[in-house]
Amino acid sequence: MTSKETDIKVSRVAGEDSSWRRAFRAFYADCPRADRSGVDHAYFAAWTGKRLAGHSEVYFDGGRWVLDGLRVAAEFRERGIAKRLTAARIRYAIGRGAKEVWYACDDGNLVTICCHLRFGFKKVCPAGHSCNAATAHWYRLKVTKKLLKELDGVSPA
Ligand SMILES: CC(C)(COP(=O)(O)OP(=O)(O)OC[C@H]1O[C@@H](n2cnc3c(N)ncnc32)[C@H](O)[C@@H]1OP(=O)(O)O)[C@@H](O)C(=O)NCCC(=O)NCCS
Repeated sequence: MTSKETDIKVSRVAGEDSSWRRAFRAFYADCPRADRSGVDHAYFAAWTGKRLAGHSEVYFDGGRWVLDGLRVAAEFRERGIAKRLTAARIRYAIGRGAKEVWYACDDGNLVTICCHLRFGFKKVCPAGHSCNAATAHWYRLKVTKKLLKELDGVSPA
C-alpha cells in the first residue's frame, strides 16, 4: 500500500450531520440518491482530510441487504478505494446478520460490475422480478468462509 492510499480513511458515516449532508449532496449533485432514512441503512465514506474521495451506501429493504451509490471521485480512482468501501459495507451487513448481500446495476456499468464481481457476486434474477437486457440486473453474494477470508485481506480503514 502506498502512502497516498493510507492517507485515505474509509469509515462509516456516524451521525449523518449537516456538514456530511452538504458534502454528500455536492458529491452526488448529478445523480441524486434515494432517501434511505425510512429503512435500516449505513453510509460509508472515504475521506482525505475533510474532503470526500468516495462514498457508498448499504441498506436493508424487502428482506435484503443491498449495496448502492458507489462512487469514487475521478482523481482518486484505481487506487482500491471502491474495493475498500465495498468490503466495509459487506462486513457491516454480515455484522448485522446478513447471509447474503445484493447489488443491482445496469449491464452497461462495466467498471462497477467488475468492482463487485471480484468479491464473488453472481448475477441472479430474484423471485418476483422479470429481468431482461433492458432492466437493471441483480447480483447476489453469498456469505461463505472464503468470502470472510478474502475480506480479511482488504484494508479496513
Ligand atoms: C466504479 C468506481 C466506483 C471504481 O472505483 P475505484 O476506486 O477506481 O475502484 P478500485 O480501484 O477499488 O477497483 C476495484 C475493482 O474495480 C475494477 N476496476 C476499477 N477501475 C477499473 C477500470 N478503469 N477498468 C476496469 N476495471 C476497473 C477492477 O476490477 C478492480 O478490481 P482489482 O483490484 O481486482 O483490479 C469508480 O470508477 C466510479 O466512481 N465510477 C463512477 C460511478 C458513478 O458515478 N456512479 C453513479 C453513482 S450515483
